[in-house]
Amino acid sequence: MVDPVLRLGAGGRLNESTIVVTGGAGFIGSHVVARLLAAGATVKVIDDLSTGRLENLRDSLGAGLAEPDIRICDVRSTDAVDAIRLWRPEIVVHLAAQSNLPASTRSPLVDADINIRGTVNVLDSCAEAETGLVVYAATSAIYGTVDGDAVPVAETAPIAPTSPYGLSKATALKYLDWYRDHRSVDYTALVLGNVYGPRQVGPMCGVVGLMAQAAMTGGHLAIFGDGHQTRDFVFVADVAEAVTAACTTGGLGLVNIASGVETTVGEIAVLVSQAAGAGTPRHADPPLGEVRRMALDISRAMDLLGWHPTTPLAEGVRITVRAARRRDSIKEAS
Ligand SMILES: NC(=O)c1ccc[n+]([C@@H]2O[C@H](COP(=O)([O-])OP(=O)(O)OC[C@H]3O[C@@H](n4cnc5c(N)ncnc54)[C@H](O)[C@@H]3O)[C@@H](O)[C@H]2O)c1
Repeated sequence: MVDPVLRLGAGGRLNESTIVVTGGAGFIGSHVVARLLAAGATVKVIDDLSTGRLENLRDSLGAGLAEPDIRICDVRSTDAVDAIRLWRPEIVVHLAAQSNLPASTRSPLVDADINIRGTVNVLDSCAEAETGLVVYAATSAIYGTVDGDAVPVAETAPIAPTSPYGLSKATALKYLDWYRDHRSVDYTALVLGNVYGPRQVGPMCGVVGLMAQAAMTGGHLAIFGDGHQTRDFVFVADVAEAVTAACTTGGLGLVNIASGVETTVGEIAVLVSQAAGAGTPRHADPPLGEVRRMALDISRAMDLLGWHPTTPLAEGVRITVRAARRRDSIKEAS
C-alpha cells in the first residue's frame, strides 16, 4: 500500500497515483477527473452514464485521459470489480450514486441498491486491489433536520437523515468504517453542501442548475416552498479542489466541504435572475423530507486539508448561467 504522504509529489502533484473516479462522467465527477489529471494523476473512470455524459469528459480526453480509461458499467456489476482489479488504483474517488433526494423518496429501493450495494461492491473491490484510500462523496442530508443553533453543522453532529437518500449515504459511511477497520481500506468522506456549476443539467439537478436552465428558456424560476429555507452552496471547481486535497492526505473520516454560509433559495433566485437578465420566481410545493436550514462548519477542511472555497457565490452563479447559455446556443445551432 502506498504511504499517503508519498502520493504528493513535488509541487503538490499526484504523479505516482492511479486514481479511479466512479461517476467520473457526471457533473462533479467530470470536474474532479480534469483536476486530478492536472495534478499529474493517472485517472480511470467507471460510469454507467445513467445521468453522466461522455461529452463531460471531452476536455479530459485531450488532456491525459484515453478512451480505454473509461469503463462504461454499473458500480454494482462484476465489470466494475474487474476494472478495479485490473487497474489496482492507489485511490478510488467514489462519486457514482443515485444523487437525487426527491427520487429517493419515490424509489427508496433503487436508491439503496445503487448507493449501498454499489458502495459495498466498490469497497470490496478496493480491498481486493489493495487500494489504500477511498474518497467518498457524502451529503449534508446525513445530518437531517438540525436546530437553528446547531447551524453551521460540524462533523460531530448526530447522523440523523430524514430521507432515503440521506439514509443510504449514512449507511455507506458505516460500511466505510467497517472496511477501514477490517480490510485496511482507509477513507475520507467529504460531506458536500449544495454543489453547483457548469454541467449540472437535467430535470433533477440542483436549485442553481434548475433556475439557470429555466432562465434560459424564459420559464419561471421554481422556488420550492416559501424560499426562506437555507442551503450551503459550494462551487464545483472548489469541490474538485477539495477532492484533490483529500487524495493527498491519509484517511480523515468525515470532512465537511461547503461555504460555511447559509443562503436562502430566494436569494439564489435573485442572483440567477440578475446573471441571466430574466426569469421570474414562482413558488411550488416543497419535496418530502426537505430540511429547513443548512450550513456546514468547514473548520475541519481548513485545518486538515488546507482547503477553503475561493469562488464567491455571485461569481459562481454568473459562470453557471454563462455555461447554460452556451449550452443552449449550441443546442439551437445543431
Ligand atoms: N450535486 C450535489 O449538490 C451533491 C451534494 C452532495 C453530495 N453529492 C454526491 O456527489 C456525487 C456526484 O453527484 P453529482 O451531483 O455529480 O451527480 P451526477 O448524477 O451528475 O453524478 C453521478 C454519476 O454517477 C453515475 N452513476 C449513477 N449510478 C451509477 C451506477 N449504478 N453505476 C455507475 N455509475 C453510476 C452517473 O451516470 C453520473 O455520471 C454523488 O455521490 C452525490 O450523492 C452531490
